[in-house]
Parts: sequence; structure tokens; C-alpha cells
Amino acid sequence: MMDGGKGGLELVPLHGDFGIEARGVDISRPLDAATVSALRDAFGRHRLLVVRGQDLAPEAHIAFTRHFGELEVHVLDEYHKARHPEIFELSNIGPDGKPNAVHPDRGTLFWHSDASFQKVPALATLLYAEQVPRDGGHTMFADMIGAYEALGASERERYRAMRVMHDLHVSRLKAGYAGMTEAQRRQAPPVEQPLVRVHPPTGRLALYLGSHGQEFVGMTEHESRGLFERIMNHCTEPRFVYDHVWKPGDLVMWDNRATVHRGTEYDTAAEPRVVRRTVLKGEAVVAAA
Ligand SMILES: [Fe+2]
Repeated sequence: MMDGGKGGLELVPLHGDFGIEARGVDISRPLDAATVSALRDAFGRHRLLVVRGQDLAPEAHIAFTRHFGELEVHVLDEYHKARHPEIFELSNIGPDGKPNAVHPDRGTLFWHSDASFQKVPALATLLYAEQVPRDGGHTMFADMIGAYEALGASERERYRAMRVMHDLHVSRLKAGYAGMTEAQRRQAPPVEQPLVRVHPPTGRLALYLGSHGQEFVGMTEHESRGLFERIMNHCTEPRFVYDHVWKPGDLVMWDNRATVHRGTEYDTAAEPRVVRRTVLKGEAVVAAA
């Protein structure tokens, strides 16, 4: 346990070097500079930050996010929540106030890095839980730096030279949704990303892949599928994975430059689940040299 020494802030490791839980802090209130600095530093080093037991209104959620950078709004208008365009809510509550048996986004059940289909993808995502199911509805996180560093030298070298097409259209189809309209495809065209990227806060290298990125440049569809599965199976071995079991009032912040995540199934007909997120604007992806 590391004592931040900032008015009771404690930083507790979650899964080896991957993830930190911050305790003794109320993020719904204005934070002093030392606390903000300690949280930024912990997030930069460990890629995943968990704060439990928070009573966080949407305005405070946005204010907390601003400590880490600039917020972004989703590239597609249909994802916006009217009062706070910076907030994206995932809920299975119908107009009658009861669970509606519809998963709000089945795409989230596949391992992915948020907005990797954008040329400048989301830097980080901050997800807050209002209501959670008794069973399931977890979010699992895989450490793409740990996964990269565990590869053999020849594989690391080979992967550093590879590039992948990321396309929201493809991942939506895979999740069982209609593809995007022509207008949406113009808003969010496919982009090419390196398979290995630099994580600027640490200078370490991370694998960069997930459900939005399934097609390797210069490979057949068959070859792409095989390699995609092989790499994703490696990254999501239990040794690289932290499984977050939500409680109401949890906030989890993850670094999309160095992690992938997926939700787990829950009974959408019986159990309410309401979570909302903000997203931090990213920076251009830096390919490994
Ligand atoms: Fe996501």
C-alpha cells in the first residue's frame, strides 16, 4: 500500500502493476492540487484507476474528468445524452422504469479499446455505476502493456511492424447490429492503426487491438482472423486481466492507450444496470519504432 500523504488518500494496487484503487478521497468535491497530482501520477503509471463509494452527480463526474484533460463527445450523434453531451449513459431501464430486456450496447461485450476506430482515439474513459445487477454486468480489463512485454523478442519485433484497420462499421456488424449508414460511414471512416503503440506517460509499448480492429493490413481475411484470435487470446489470459465487479457508486477510469475491456452478460429482463461515462480526448497514436 502506498500512502499518498494527501489528506488520507491511499493508493492500493489491484492486479500487480496493473490498476490502482484510490481510497480516502471524495471525488464529488473540489480536490486540492496534491491529490489531483497523485491521482494523475497513479493513473499514468498503472493505466486503471478505481474509486469506490462515490456519490457522483453528472456535473461532478464531468468536473472530475476535467482534472485529467479535455472531454470529448461521441462521433455519432445518436450516442449523445441531451442535457450533458459529454455523458454517455448505458441503461436497460424502459419508459415504465423497469428493466426492458434490451442490452444497451452489445458491442461492449467484445474486448475493445474505446474509439480505436478514430484517427485520434479516446485517451481514457471514466465509467460510473448508478445501478448494478446482482449477477454479471462486470467489466473486465486486460493490460496491453503487460501482454506485450510477456511476448518473445521475435514476436514483439514482428508485431511492431504490423498495422490494423479499425472500423466501427465492422464491430457493429459483429455485435449483431445493422452497419452504419453512408452518412455515418463518412463521419467515422475506417482508420489504420499500428498494432503496437507507445504509451506516452511511461514510454512502455502496448499491443493495440480489439473488436474495432480485426483486419491486418496486407493479410487475407482468413489470416487476419487467425492472428486476431491468437493475439486477443494471449492478451486476455487471466494473468493480464482485472475483473471489476461493480457496486453502485464505483468509478473506474481506464487508459485506452494501454488496455482493452469488455462487459459481461447479465439478465437484462430482470436486473437494472445503469452506468454512465465520460471520455477524455486523445492524442495522435504513436507507433512503436
Ligand atoms: Fe468500451
